[in-house]
This record gives sequence, C-alpha cells and structure tokens, in this order.
Amino acid sequence: MALAVCVVDWSARRGKVYQAVFNVGVIVLSTIAGATVYAFLPGGAWAFVAGGALAGASYYAVNIGLLTTAIALETTERWRDTFRARFAWLFPHYLLYGVVGGMVAVAYDVAGVLALFVFAVPLILVRKAQLDYINHTEESVRRLREAAETIERQNESLRRANQLLRDRATEAMESLVAVVDARDTYTAGHSRRVQGIAVAIGRELALDGPELESLSFAALFHDIGKVAVPDDVLLKSGPLDDTEWWIVREHSEEGERIIGHLGFLADATPAIRHHHEHFDGGGYPDGLRGQEIPVGARILHVADAFDSMITNRVYRQALSLDEAIAELRRASGSQFCPSCVAALEKLIASGALAHILDVNSSSAAA
Ligand SMILES: [Fe+2]
Repeated sequence: MALAVCVVDWSARRGKVYQAVFNVGVIVLSTIAGATVYAFLPGGAWAFVAGGALAGASYYAVNIGLLTTAIALETTERWRDTFRARFAWLFPHYLLYGVVGGMVAVAYDVAGVLALFVFAVPLILVRKAQLDYINHTEESVRRLREAAETIERQNESLRRANQLLRDRATEAMESLVAVVDARDTYTAGHSRRVQGIAVAIGRELALDGPELESLSFAALFHDIGKVAVPDDVLLKSGPLDDTEWWIVREHSEEGERIIGHLGFLADATPAIRHHHEHFDGGGYPDGLRGQEIPVGARILHVADAFDSMITNRVYRQALSLDEAIAELRRASGSQFCPSCVAALEKLIASGALAHILDVNSSSAAA
C-alpha cells in the first residue's frame, strides 16, 4: 500500500512517463485485488455471481481509489469531490464486469480456452463500440470547446472595440466642451471644475457607482448645448432681451439632444436637461420642483452656480468664498436643493474641495 501511495504521489507530480507507470501499477494492483477476493470465496453453482460482483467491487475500490488520490493530489481538488464528480457513477458497471468475469471463469473451468474465445469476442466488440462512442463524444466536446473559445475571443474584441468607440466619443465631446469653455475666457475650465464639485457632492449624498458615473458625464457636458448660442448673445455684457434669453435657455435642451445621440451617455441626459430647474419650480425648461427634479440635476445646479459665483464673469466680479456660501444659504430651499447645499458646505468646511478652489482662485486671478 505504501508503495502504491508512492507511485500515486510520484505520478501526480511528474510527467507523462510516470503517468504511464502509474496506470500500469494501478491495473496490476486492481487485478490482484479482484483476483484475490474471487479466489478466496467458496465455490458453488451460482457463487460466481456474488464472487464476481465482490471481485468487481474490490477492483473498483483499488483502481478508483488510486486514480482519485492521484487527481486530488495533482489538482488540489478535495478527494471526496473528485470521487463524486468523476467516478462514483462507475460502481454498478464494475459490479457487472465482475459478474461477467465470474461467468468467464466458470466457463473456462468447463470448456477450457474455447470458452475464453467465445466470451472474449462479444466483450471486445462491446468495448470497441464503447471506445468509438467515447471518442466521438470527446471530439464533439473538443469542437464545442473550440467554438466557445472562438466566441469568447470575438466577444472580447467587441468589448474592446466598444470601449474604444466610447473613449473616442467621450474625447470628441470633451473637445467640444473645451471649445464652449474657451469661447468665454472667464469660464475656461468651468465644466471640469463643476465635474469635480458635483461628483464630490454626489459622493457626500451616497450616490452609487453608476449614478456617480452619469453625474460625472452630465457635469462635464452640462453646457455643451451652448455651441448653438451665438457669440453676441453668449458674451453679451449687458442684460439680455427676451429673444436672447430664450436662445440662452435653449442650451439645456440642446445639450440633452447632443448627448442623447451617444447611447452610452443616455443616463446623463436628465441631469443635463434639468440643470437649471429651481427647487421651488421657478427654473427651466420644465418648471419641475423639489424631488421631481432628478438628483443629478439638483447637484449639478448647485455645483454650476457655486463655480460661477467664485469665478469672474462678463457681468460681475467673482464673489469671495464666504459670500458665495452666504448666497447658497440664502437661496437654499428656493433655488437650490437644501441637501445639496448642506453637502457642499460640509465639503468646503472639511477642505475636500481645496484642490478645486485653489485652481479656481489662480484661474480667476489670471
Ligand atoms: Fe447651463
């Protein structure tokens, strides 16, 4: 037994030559076990049935026991799992083979070598049919596996192509945003800063991963619709007349249309469309109020307004940080969502936005 275990361990850890040695060893040991059991059982008219079955069981125990141990050592699977998954179902077959073996032994006693020939031919034919069937099945499995691997490779290529398209589309939109920001030198980098502030507020309000991603895109592209606003209206330093005002306020719906064409950014469009809605219903384009306004849009409105307040604009100088906070508090609950204002105040107080505000100060001063 010790020798058998050594052979098992040796075979499991070495190459194919050792596996062949192991296989021969297993067959020899299994045969010795089956033959020994059969030889020690008492004879009798039908004793070969029980004797053959017990011999088959002994052969099975040694053969499958060693094979399972070898596989468990080689794959680090649990012995019991390996046995159940691969070999447990073979037990009735080995009992049957044992009984057939017993019949052959009885026939040999009566008719000699001729009996072996008579039994051997059908058994060999059955075995050949089994092997053909197994080979055919293995070939089918191999082809199916290759087909599955091909599909998996194609899926991976499609995933990469899709990601590339998304990246390129996002880069194109970012370039457009840069153009929009660059048209008004006072607000250069505005969209990037609003993105940083809005995502920070979103995290503070415990938005989940997909919501934060949509908010991030919405913040970056929130004013992309301004590409449709003429320079003489967008950069006008005096008050806008009614017609000009309608042109400007169209930018949120125009932005929704532009970004809506990019399917993967569809979740960002509600926040873009509604980023000028007021909490009390006084905003545009749909006059939504309170919780009717998507949370991304409420966050975006506060972040957009805050960055505008602390940046020089064509129509006014930048407010100080304290003045901007006071303005947000004054309009909290009317123009701004109170939760979003509170979250922004908390972020400012903790210094979490220091990197954005520092950049802001230098760009405003420039
Ligand atoms: Fe806007």
